[in-house]
Amino acid sequence: MTTAPENGSGRRSAHWFGAGGRSGMIYRSWMRNQGFSDEVFDGRPVIGIAVSGSELAPCNAHLSRVAESVKRGVWQAGGFPLEFPVMALGETVLRPTAMLYRNLLAMEAEELMRANPLDGAVLLSGCDKTTPGLLMAAASTDLPSLMITGGPMLNGKFRGEDIGSGTHVWKFEEEVRAGRMSEADCAFAESCMSRSNGHCMTMGTASTMACMAEALGMQPAFAATWPAVDARRYAAAQRAGRRIVAMVEEDVRPSSIMTREAFENAIRINAAIGGSTNAVIHLLAVAGRLGVDLALDDFDALVREVPTLLDLMPSGRFLMEDFCYAGGLPAVVAELGDLLHTEAPTVTGEPIGAAARAGAAECHDREVIRPFDDPLQPAGTGTAVLRGNLAPGGAVVKQSAASPHLLVHRGRARVFDSPEEYYAVADDPDLDVDADTVLVLRNCGPVGYPGMPEVSNVALPSRLLSQGVTDMVRICDGRMSGTAYGTVVLHTAPEAAVGGPLALVRDGDEITLDVPARRLTLEVDDAELDRRRAAWTPPRPHSERGWTRLYCDHVLQADRGADLDFLVGSSGHEVPRESH
Ligand code: FES
Ligand code: MG
Repeated sequence: MTTAPENGSGRRSAHWFGAGGRSGMIYRSWMRNQGFSDEVFDGRPVIGIAVSGSELAPCNAHLSRVAESVKRGVWQAGGFPLEFPVMALGETVLRPTAMLYRNLLAMEAEELMRANPLDGAVLLSGCDKTTPGLLMAAASTDLPSLMITGGPMLNGKFRGEDIGSGTHVWKFEEEVRAGRMSEADCAFAESCMSRSNGHCMTMGTASTMACMAEALGMQPAFAATWPAVDARRYAAAQRAGRRIVAMVEEDVRPSSIMTREAFENAIRINAAIGGSTNAVIHLLAVAGRLGVDLALDDFDALVREVPTLLDLMPSGRFLMEDFCYAGGLPAVVAELGDLLHTEAPTVTGEPIGAAARAGAAECHDREVIRPFDDPLQPAGTGTAVLRGNLAPGGAVVKQSAASPHLLVHRGRARVFDSPEEYYAVADDPDLDVDADTVLVLRNCGPVGYPGMPEVSNVALPSRLLSQGVTDMVRICDGRMSGTAYGTVVLHTAPEAAVGGPLALVRDGDEITLDVPARRLTLEVDDAELDRRRAAWTPPRPHSERGWTRLYCDHVLQADRGADLDFLVGSSGHEVPRESH
């Protein structure tokens, strides 16, 4: 039986709900069991609302309430909203790391968007991996889509001090280990840090990616920064519901929003907000889905003239709530001015520079959002991309989170094959490290861990902490939490587990880090490295089956966004074959 559309709308959804005969009856009849009346099948745009929330993903647990606001807007505009769950990735709870599952979420959401009778989608995300995962899905279906992130938690408040998610966990851990804070006070601080729904309120990965969604044009202006509990977030969600219906009518697709210009804007805005290094990997992965020509080195070249404007933790003092009240991302866009492609389109139909041009992007707090000519950190101190014989595929270092005196440094390597191996001896008072030691931590990459977790910023050895040392050079093939800080070389590619040079480092080797020259050098000659390489054997696979097997067999290195090789690109949103 064919399912030629009968309601004549020509939309994708008409191939289901507008179909004649037995098939049409099947598609409609079972939907009716939810109490929908006839009009929903009249050819109106069907809008899927992808909800990446669950009680296991605390940062996204409120997204079903945000979905209710989106639905109001969709109904108002004459659309038919249908909420559907997608993988909820909780950064804090998932082991071995939520990053192992970002591509699985992207794959799941892509397939659901294509296989269902949807004409457009609203993507609800929050916690770190949910935003890039859903953007990747939208890119690969190229179905009209917009994003609403769930918003940050309210500022943490501990004994009169603002405390930030993540950032203060690292700080308190150090205080306790150095004997300056009691275990009891630390336990009390735990409940002071997470006071409302929402994602981390530092400029960690979630806030960064929410800002990236707005910077790319996929999320409406101001929507990255309203706290999760702010009524204006819900009003924005309702407006988004109305807007997606219009986007379907105008056929506004992700590929027309997320252009090379949009990525250039995002990369520069990420530097201005002091955003997470994880944005590098996620933006590369999204760009790969769209066929946008973006490379790791763009992240270095594009940010050299961009100062850090935002004084937010972990690089600075304030939190997302302060950023919101200070003017939100449009105020940063206004400040960057001509450094951005201000005409780049966004999902609202207005270009990214519209709020600034209309005078609606004022800054209300110059302590939080600094002026371009009096920035928090001068231009050229953003994320740097390093190359050299230790990182032929590149590595990154977040200069604003690093110690200036370590940006040019030569020291002897102390090598650990896993974080567990390091932590087993980290408190040993006789550990053979000093302030100049370069701590090498390997097998933390996409294949190595697996999933490339945020373990690179290992806490300093007790011995150094007790000497008052606050930072040391660490080099790793893993990632670092966006809420963390330290002179940590990240994303070293290729990773050790696939035979990258990091696998060849031995205790006592000299390593030179030269951030101004963008070099990372293992001071061992090629002949010796060749000998070591010949003797190297790959680690045993983590799993012979399941997702971990599929992931490890196909994951690309960090410099390609750690997507799966067969997920790069787009399959569009053609209506699949009949199911009955
Ligand atoms: Fe979910 Fe930080 S843990 S946003
Ligand atoms: Mg994180």
